[in-house]
Amino acid sequence: MKIPSLIGHRGVARYAPENTIESIQAAADMGIKWVELDVKLTRDGVPILFHDDTLDRTTNGGGPVATRSFADLQDLEAGSWFSHGFSGIKIPSLEEAVDVLLERRLGVNFEIKPCPGREVETAQAMMDLLSRIWDDRETILISSFSCVSLDVVCDMTPDFPRGMLLDTFWPENWAALADHLTPETINVDAGAITREQVEALIEYGKPILAYTVNEPDQARRLRGWGIDGFFSDAPDLLVDALRSVLH
Ligand code: G3P
Ligand code: MG
Repeated sequence: MKIPSLIGHRGVARYAPENTIESIQAAADMGIKWVELDVKLTRDGVPILFHDDTLDRTTNGGGPVATRSFADLQDLEAGSWFSHGFSGIKIPSLEEAVDVLLERRLGVNFEIKPCPGREVETAQAMMDLLSRIWDDRETILISSFSCVSLDVVCDMTPDFPRGMLLDTFWPENWAALADHLTPETINVDAGAITREQVEALIEYGKPILAYTVNEPDQARRLRGWGIDGFFSDAPDLLVDALRSVLH
C-alpha cells in the first residue's frame, strides 16, 4: 500500500465531533484523503465508531459503552458536547461509516479500540464486517494498541494491512512483537518519541506514522527525522509544512 502522509484524526476532530459521520464528511470536504477512526463494540456485538470506554465525554449519556446495546446508544446524541451546531447527531455504526467512506473515496485507518476484556470479539466483529464490504487493500489500515486484537486480524484476515500502535512507553520486545504481527506501519506517539527511537524504527525498516500532530513546526521536525505520515485533528494546518511529500 501507499503510505498516507496526512491522516485526519478521528475524522477531523477539531472541526466536527470525533468519530462521527459528520467528521468523516468534514474531512472529505477539506480534501483530506485518509481518516483514522476508533472502533468499539456494543453489548450486542455491533461495531461502532467510538473512542472512550465510557459515554460521558462525547455523548449526553454516561457509564460504560460495553453494557449498552446499539439500539440503546441510538437514543443518545453525540454532537452537542462539541457545539450546538452538531446537536442531535448519533453514534455511527462501523457499517454506516464504511458507506460514507466508500462514497467519498477516502482511505481509512480503523483503530481497534476494545473495551477492557473485549479484545478478541471486537477485532472479530470488525474484521467479519470489513472482509465482506471493503475490497481494496490499498486504502485501508487496521491498527491497535492491543496485540491480542491485532493477532486476531493476522489470523482471520491476513491480507488486511496492519499498523502496530506504540504508546508513550514502548515494550522492550517491540521488535519481536512487530516480527510476529508483521505490520505495514508502526504508529507512534508524536509527543513522546525521541530521535533515537525514530532511528531504531528506520533501521527496523517499517514506515512510521505519528499521532497526533497539530502544529506545522512539529510536523516539519518529525518529517526531518524520517517520520512518513501524521495523524492530525486539523490536517489542513499541516498541508503547507508537508507540501513536498503529500500524496
Ligand atoms: O491511531 C492513532 C491515535 O488515534 C491513537 O491514540 O487515543 O487518539 O486513539 P487515540
Ligand atoms: Mg485512535
